[in-house]
Amino acid sequence: MVIGVPREIFPSERRVALIPASVPLLVKAGFRVLVETNAGYLAGYTDAAYREKGASTAASRDQVFADADVIFQLVGVGANQATGREDLPRFRRGQAALGFQRALGNPESLQELAATGATVFAIEMMPRITRAQSMDALSSMSTAAGYSAVLLAAAALPKMFPMMMTAAGTISPARVLIVGVGVSGLQAISTARRIGAVVSAYDVRPAVKEQVHSLGARFVELPLETGGAEDAGGYAKAQDEAFYRRQRELMAKAVAESDVVITTANVPGRKAPVLITSEMVAGMNPGSVIVDLAAERGGNCELTKSGQTVSAHGVTIMGPVNVPSLVPFHASQMYSTNITAFFTHLAKDGRLEVDPSDEIARETLVARAGQIVHPKVREALGLPPGTPA
Ligand code: NAI
Repeated sequence: MVIGVPREIFPSERRVALIPASVPLLVKAGFRVLVETNAGYLAGYTDAAYREKGASTAASRDQVFADADVIFQLVGVGANQATGREDLPRFRRGQAALGFQRALGNPESLQELAATGATVFAIEMMPRITRAQSMDALSSMSTAAGYSAVLLAAAALPKMFPMMMTAAGTISPARVLIVGVGVSGLQAISTARRIGAVVSAYDVRPAVKEQVHSLGARFVELPLETGGAEDAGGYAKAQDEAFYRRQRELMAKAVAESDVVITTANVPGRKAPVLITSEMVAGMNPGSVIVDLAAERGGNCELTKSGQTVSAHGVTIMGPVNVPSLVPFHASQMYSTNITAFFTHLAKDGRLEVDPSDEIARETLVARAGQIVHPKVREALGLPPGTPA
């Protein structure tokens, strides 16, 4: 079987789905790897490095698709509303496609990919079970995003982060508030602490408090009833508008006291909850910075503009998109490990077989033989339930 790695074509994307270091693993397992010229260049991986590790390179994208039985992508067609359709004519029936597909967020694009007859796996649907941890690309990208968000904030803040005792007086440390402490929030706490900020954090899931403390940050206690805030999968459950109103009221003081607020709050399958209103922004000191990592999902701050940096009430509000692409070398390294582990799990004995009793295969397989087969994606598209024959 030939694994094809096309160059990523999402605008401004710098990552690549597979790095040279993963090639020997795949070759050893009996696969051939064919990489489009310059696919890894922007992430820091040269064509020569791929070849040294046993891959072939092809100058033409068409050739990569034509020769490959499996396509490894980062931003798959489903996730790439900007330019993904360009690749539709290149896919063929039975060819496998692995990558982020935004299967629940943008099922319409996925349906177009499904129509090519490709066998599509959406890596973001990976179940969060222990044996799939090495395949958890969402966590990898959240790690990169949480780290980068702090650096974006530090660069935009007119203050320095650490406390400094100098001959010219003492500089007080920046105060950073993290709202939403999943994978990216935890990494943001660690990063802000490493640069010397005083960090506090809040999440609706009570289990998070201990993790916040273990990273040396303060947990913001809000008198809110959060006993049922976590679902069986460890994710936050959606709350009603009255809850979010109360949360905003209670959080206003913590926001006003912070130099930097980094928001990451998400509820799977929903628009991000609005947790910071325009009024709360007005209550912050001028020069303060908000980095809204939920910008792509509608934003946690009312004033966030996705993909833009705006200024309101003297506060800089950043709504960066595709944040992991800011650190493409390591984001690609982590993704490459994830997709390689995922693929070698799926393709036992050199053949790609979908074992319906395997939770990993079952949960990530979204389309096959021209049909959307995943129950949740079918529901999102309003298709009748049940797997088509
Ligand atoms: P996410 O990206 O879906 O959301 C980020 C955070 O926002 C979550 O912690 C969520 O509780 C929080 N949030 C939602 N509404 C909020 C509100 N109104 N106010 C404040 N915070 C709010 O989350 P992510 O990063 O995917 O992590 C979710 C859970 O999954 C965590 O418990 C994480 O530890 C767990 N996890 C488990 C893995 C495994 O078992 N293999 C791997 C990775 C994560």
